[in-house]
Amino acid sequence: MSSIKKVLLLIGSPRAGRSVSNALGEYLVSQMAAPGVKQEKIFIQQALKKDPTGTILINAFADADIVLLAFPLYADSLPHPVIEAFELLSASSRENRQGQKSFAVLCNSGFPEAGQSRLALGMCRQFAKESGLAWKGGLAMGGGGALEGRDLDKAGGMARNIRKALQTAAAALAENRDVPAEAMNLMARPMMPTWLYLFMGNLGWRIRARRNGVGPKLCEKPYKTP
Ligand SMILES: Cc1cc2nc3c(=O)[nH]c(=O)nc-3n(C[C@H](O)[C@H](O)[C@H](O)COP(=O)(O)O)c2cc1C
Repeated sequence: MSSIKKVLLLIGSPRAGRSVSNALGEYLVSQMAAPGVKQEKIFIQQALKKDPTGTILINAFADADIVLLAFPLYADSLPHPVIEAFELLSASSRENRQGQKSFAVLCNSGFPEAGQSRLALGMCRQFAKESGLAWKGGLAMGGGGALEGRDLDKAGGMARNIRKALQTAAAALAENRDVPAEAMNLMARPMMPTWLYLFMGNLGWRIRARRNGVGPKLCEKPYKTP
């Protein structure tokens, strides 16, 4: 019998509902749905904009048995609103210990290798440790660009390992167990060959640059000293 009665999903991407983080997080919590289990989702940046003191976040956090954070990798680290949320939640968690809650994260990055997120996952683990949370594990996925603008359900065969990884993780988290290594390994598997991802990525950049009238300037190096 699970002790999880409330799941809180935090979305750490400033792109909110349009983000890959949102698609991954939504799929994970959809797999944890069960009678009597409440779910709540908060877009961190939007919540902090509305309430810079963090009360919305802190109250939702206080109520939850498990907190799941989905975020994009930014400069090998976490987006600024996520760090701000960590600082607010860590302080409140130390002040009002209401029994240990669980914490797990989902990180997606633009570069193809999931290993790029290792440092960011370590930061999340450290946050859990300093805040008295039970660390349940981190899932990292590279090549996030391939999922941009799609629901995971509609991303076809390319995303089947990601769906399987999240289903496996959800089954464990719903019972308050650690994310299994099998789920982490599946999540980290590239969705397509690296050459194809890079080819599509470069093509996308060129098309966007041309649309914005800067196609010929794409390779300029204005700060390079002669
Ligand atoms: C400011 C910024 C910094 C980024 N830094 C990295 C990085 O260090 N490594 C990486 O692999 N991707 C990096 N990315 C790419 C994002 O992680 C990637 O586009 C991700 O899929 C966005 O996820 P989201 O839709 O959930 O926001 C960066 C993107 C931005 C906007």
